[in-house]
Amino acid sequence: MKNSTLILLSVVVFMTGCSPSGSNGERTQDVSQEAEAAPQEDVNIDVWLERMEVGSRELYSARDAVVAALGLEEGDVVADIGAGTGLYTLLFAEAVGGTGRIYAEDIEPRFLDLINRRAEDSGFGNITAVLGREDDVTLPDNAMDLVFIADTYHYFSDREGVMKSVYRALKPGGSLILIDYDLKPGEERPSEKSHVRFGRAGVISEIEYIGFAFAEEQAVAGLEENYFLRFVKADD
Ligand SMILES: C[S@@+](CC[C@H](N)C(=O)[O-])C[C@H]1O[C@@H](n2cnc3c(N)ncnc32)[C@H](O)[C@@H]1O
Repeated sequence: MKNSTLILLSVVVFMTGCSPSGSNGERTQDVSQEAEAAPQEDVNIDVWLERMEVGSRELYSARDAVVAALGLEEGDVVADIGAGTGLYTLLFAEAVGGTGRIYAEDIEPRFLDLINRRAEDSGFGNITAVLGREDDVTLPDNAMDLVFIADTYHYFSDREGVMKSVYRALKPGGSLILIDYDLKPGEERPSEKSHVRFGRAGVISEIEYIGFAFAEEQAVAGLEENYFLRFVKADD
């Protein structure tokens, strides 16, 4: 199948029923993503810390380069969607300083408890933990300078709902950064990442459909398995 046909297919799927109520061939995949996205009852948060904050994970080893690529400024308001263990939340809190604010959003309350504990231990008073929904990040409208989504987009069970709510939360002129695992054209999905649905072209099409303008793909030192995409919400 040609690349353009694949992209069209993914946008059509996106528009016609990737929500939890949808019934299409990807439903089975969605269920496994949800299961993988949140820690299971019997999985200790410490185990997640070991999985997410380990040198063999490039989003961990390249974290300083990723933060530098964002160009955050003192006073910025940033949303970390699918914040997980707070790896990036804490780095952002340092970068924006006391006049800025980081909204650490996740659908798993145990991650938010962990982030609150880590914020307190590190003395950061500029972090707000937000419990989102599967279809809405539940953030204030037109409030974010930057929204950051790393290793999380492919977990969304309702991508259209979530991305519409991200669009509402961004200030006009604000940036959306999306980092996710790259699926190269023709590449077989590795069995340990079977939840990865499509590569960057499908993701770009879906996000443009929401109303964002694709700005650029940035090369970041240390990121090889992941792409780093920047989108903007147009000024009014
Ligand atoms: C692989 S972790 C990535 C954590 C963090 N972004 C990082 O890169 O270290 C994926 C996270 O997405 C969260 N998640 C899954 N579905 C979500 C949704 N619909 N809205 C917000 N967060 C979600 C999970 O609970 C989990 O914390």
